[in-house]
Amino acid sequence: MRDMHCHILPGVDDGSSNLRYSLAMLNAAKAAGITSIVCTPHCRDPYFNYDKMEDAFTRLQAAAPDFNFTMGFEVNHYKLMKLGVDQWAPYLGFEGTGEFLLELEDSCTADSFRDYDHTIYQLQSMGYSVIIAHPERYEAIRKDVSWAQHLVDLGCKLQCSADFINGGRLGNSKHTAKKLFKMGLYSYIASDAHRIEHYDLFAKAVEHYSKYLRP
Ligand SMILES: [Fe+2]
Repeated sequence: MRDMHCHILPGVDDGSSNLRYSLAMLNAAKAAGITSIVCTPHCRDPYFNYDKMEDAFTRLQAAAPDFNFTMGFEVNHYKLMKLGVDQWAPYLGFEGTGEFLLELEDSCTADSFRDYDHTIYQLQSMGYSVIIAHPERYEAIRKDVSWAQHLVDLGCKLQCSADFINGGRLGNSKHTAKKLFKMGLYSYIASDAHRIEHYDLFAKAVEHYSKYLRP
């Protein structure tokens, strides 16, 4: 089973702080049934440092050479606007799959989707399959789930972060996540792990909700 969103790279964002902890996270990931990991550090202020992240990936891979790690990023929309889609998007997709993990703003409104739609079209025209990270956290979607349907209609895939089981990072995403599962809008469940204990939530989410994922 692939985990395509997590913060296991050592010392680059608000996830694992050192290599030893990353390896402990890897053990927890394996125990939760994960057999491959896309490392997705934050491409967001104040964390983004491309070279440092590539270096952390190389160190993790060297420390666990038998495990299937690939590199990716969790790309914040606002940060991508600042960096420039044309200049940076070619470097920020998942290694070898043509996927691009895009994070929208938690406090987004219906108006935000004018920019989002434009960025999604741009990424798709570059050949990317766009995955939207944790739509259950976004205000516009919590108010009106038809915005999640809108993203699927644009050709995006939706990724649920397993911490919704506990209410989510902001304590209020469970209700929305359940609705999106029942509507059959999610394609993926990911750990979005920042710490070891997040893999327990992942195992629970997979056990109870993977039956609702899109084929
Ligand atoms: Fe994340």
